[in-house]
Amino acid sequence: MSRSIDLAVIPGDGIGQEVVAQGLKVLNAVLPEDVKLETKEYDFGARRYHASGETLTDADLADLKAHDAILLGAIGDPSVPSGVLERGFLLKLRFAFDHHVNLRPSRLLPGVATPLAGQPEIDFVVVREGTEGPYTGNGGTIRKGTPHEVATEVSVNTAFGVERVVRDAFARAQARPRKKLTLVHKNNVLAFAGHLWTNVFNKVAEEFPEVTTDYIHVDAATIYLVTDPGRFDVIVTDNLFGDIITDLAAAVSGGIGVAASGNINPSREFPSMFEPVHGSAPDIAGQGKADPTATVLSVALLLRHLGYDDEASRVEEAVSADLGARGDSTRTTDEIGTALAVRVAG
Ligand code: NAI
Ligand code: MG
Repeated sequence: MSRSIDLAVIPGDGIGQEVVAQGLKVLNAVLPEDVKLETKEYDFGARRYHASGETLTDADLADLKAHDAILLGAIGDPSVPSGVLERGFLLKLRFAFDHHVNLRPSRLLPGVATPLAGQPEIDFVVVREGTEGPYTGNGGTIRKGTPHEVATEVSVNTAFGVERVVRDAFARAQARPRKKLTLVHKNNVLAFAGHLWTNVFNKVAEEFPEVTTDYIHVDAATIYLVTDPGRFDVIVTDNLFGDIITDLAAAVSGGIGVAASGNINPSREFPSMFEPVHGSAPDIAGQGKADPTATVLSVALLLRHLGYDDEASRVEEAVSADLGARGDSTRTTDEIGTALAVRVAG
């Protein structure tokens, strides 16, 4: 049987261009010969915006939908007003393609420094809801710009939306050795949404008797992520709490250079998108200083999502070995990418 991957590639802005090139290099090196990799590059980001005023059109969405998956570098540039590309591209795509599972693994790999004392063991995954909560644009303002300005920003939580992400998180916990799932919320104060989340969580738990469950308020979770990160295996949480704790999780588990993510549509009705957590880093763009490791680890998530488990593991092992041997050597983006490509091929 011949296998193939039809990949949309969006390098984007700044270091996005540099790191995506290395991600593709590693992807090409790890795939067996019988797998045909087809890529189509898209020019979304600052260039497209300046040339045409467009961020992401309906025709673009139709083109993107035809691919098996999307690899994204980063979108954002100081020359574009803040918020235009975030809302007009990133959020628009996540909503249009119903990327309701935002997956962010945190693993402290050998040779990687953490600001936490004593090199604790860190190996957990955050499953963040991606299409609801306070991020739906459900709100408004009246008396704007006056001393009596009123602003509302409503958190939207549906039983349907919560159940599908909670179910995905249980399935991921079930597949991991420790089989533990922690719900993070603030159900004592945000009681309406909290009740919905807690109720759905407890109901879905009955279908996963092997999974140990746990509940922690989001403020306490920030303490444990620093004092006892080893207690976490899989975390499921809403869009806003997830946004915040995943940045903290990245900070304690090796930083932005190694933090990978997936914006996943589990039904596979739309392609899922894989990207490093970091942005376009205009301060170091074009200098060959960007660490491509987060992008390469995002490629591993992409491979696993498409069913290439062995290849995904090989990429992760190559990253572990490379980080372990890295010491304080200074290598360029290209040198790190090439070293990883050599490891996965060998
Ligand atoms: P950033 O992640 O681009 O940079 C933060 C700091 O980390 C900078 O000092 C940068 O040099 C460093 N850094 C980031 N990635 C690195 C890497 N791979 N290797 C070494 N150092 C790295 O965040 P910032 O500066 O807040 O945002 C810059 C632009 O990126 C903005 O336009 C922002 O909107 C956009 N952005 C886009 C994202 C996306 O496309 N999903 C995510 C986050 C930010
Ligand atoms: Mg964030």
